[in-house]
Amino acid sequence: HGTSTINDYGHLQVGGCDTTDLVERFGTPLYVMDEALIRQRCREYVEAFRETGLKFQVAYASKAFCVMAMCRLVEEEGMSLDIVSDGELYTALQAGFPAERIHFHGNNKTPMEIEMAIDAGIGCFVVDNLVELHMLNAIAGQKRQRVNILFRITPGVEAHTHEYISTGQTDSKFGLDLDNGSAYHAIEEATKLPYIKLLGVHSHIGSQIFEVQGFQMAVDKVIGFAAKVRDELKVVFSVINLGGGFGIRYVEGDTPLPISQYVKAIAESISSNFSRYDYPTPEIWVEPGRSIVGDSGTTLYTVGTHKDIPGVRKYVAVDGGMTDNPRPALYQSRYEAMLANRATEKEEELVSIAGKCCESGDMLIWDVTLPEVQSGDILAVSCTGAYNYAMASNYNRIRRPAVVFVNNGEAEVVVERESYENIVGNDRIPARMKQTTK
Ligand code: LLP
Repeated sequence: HGTSTINDYGHLQVGGCDTTDLVERFGTPLYVMDEALIRQRCREYVEAFRETGLKFQVAYASKAFCVMAMCRLVEEEGMSLDIVSDGELYTALQAGFPAERIHFHGNNKTPMEIEMAIDAGIGCFVVDNLVELHMLNAIAGQKRQRVNILFRITPGVEAHTHEYISTGQTDSKFGLDLDNGSAYHAIEEATKLPYIKLLGVHSHIGSQIFEVQGFQMAVDKVIGFAAKVRDELKVVFSVINLGGGFGIRYVEGDTPLPISQYVKAIAESISSNFSRYDYPTPEIWVEPGRSIVGDSGTTLYTVGTHKDIPGVRKYVAVDGGMTDNPRPALYQSRYEAMLANRATEKEEELVSIAGKCCESGDMLIWDVTLPEVQSGDILAVSCTGAYNYAMASNYNRIRRPAVVFVNNGEAEVVVERESYENIVGNDRIPARMKQTTK
């Protein structure tokens, strides 16, 4: 992947850094992010859109990996940022991210979050439902500030993906339904509200999608709707946001398209469909998360114990697990791994990689072939850049790992490893108990 290579010592090297050196400097588990590859992915989107000649915005879906260094990188690449909470907003603002390029998502934004976002002057709210619409208008009114919005609609398209992460179908907690009239009604409402400026609609059909058909079907539904809304309500959309969901290759058999092909297919389907309805081509916005950071991440672990059950399975345990990567336990996601310190050795042993949490489901990989694994080996799991650090927890009071950016042979910490102080930092012992303790 990317700038990963094997060096003369037979060690895995990422971004020009020997992974065994990284382990010595920073310890394990360690998230290593290949900065050049992240930037390359950003540029693939931006350049592919530039070639279409259409107006566009690429907003990085920060939920995939939201830390200040990442927000700064996205800013440098000239992209926008999709956030879904006050915490992500705070992170972006602390990193100096320009508020006008921030889009705020979510199906239950609190009044406090809305206020914080209006005060910061963010570029756009993606409004999920009518309750939010009226609350937003009221808060914006108190502040005498008109806000830009998109409506999140559910186009009724189901993408080929794991059911827990599909969001495009009708029975979903997200968005306003196109087919049952809720989206239409919301637009009627919005035109009556003085502090709301409607730019267009948003649809997100799922995640880790390999085909373009789902996006094309969504565009089809959206344009039909846009034409109806124009004819009957005299509202013209200037923006169509197609969300994220572009897939990446985790393991053999995953067959994502190159980013440029997703972009091309979407752009073509928008231009041709809208011109068919004699509708001015709107700006296209997208919100990729996984496909920006997913394949840039490698997690390094130290191998500890093992348990060999003859004729059944050999479990090899590492010093992390579901606390730093909950995806296998949550979604049965699959990953590839290698021994970073013996990267050229022949693979001869079928093992399963276990985490260290007190829970049988804490398995990182079922069945992977590796050189005969020993205690102290460094295991590298690839494609851990998206929804790993972002979803990490302190289960079992395990400290979350550090994150380093590597680039051109240099490594810099962008998130420090958590300390024991961090672990107990918010704990308080009630006064009554203090008195009874010696
Ligand atoms: N836009 C919206 C409105 C979304 O809900 C999402 C992801 C994205 C953009 C970015 O999607 P991406 O390009 O990253 O696929 N935790 C799950 C993934 C949940 C995705 C939720 N929404 C996982 O680890 O697979």
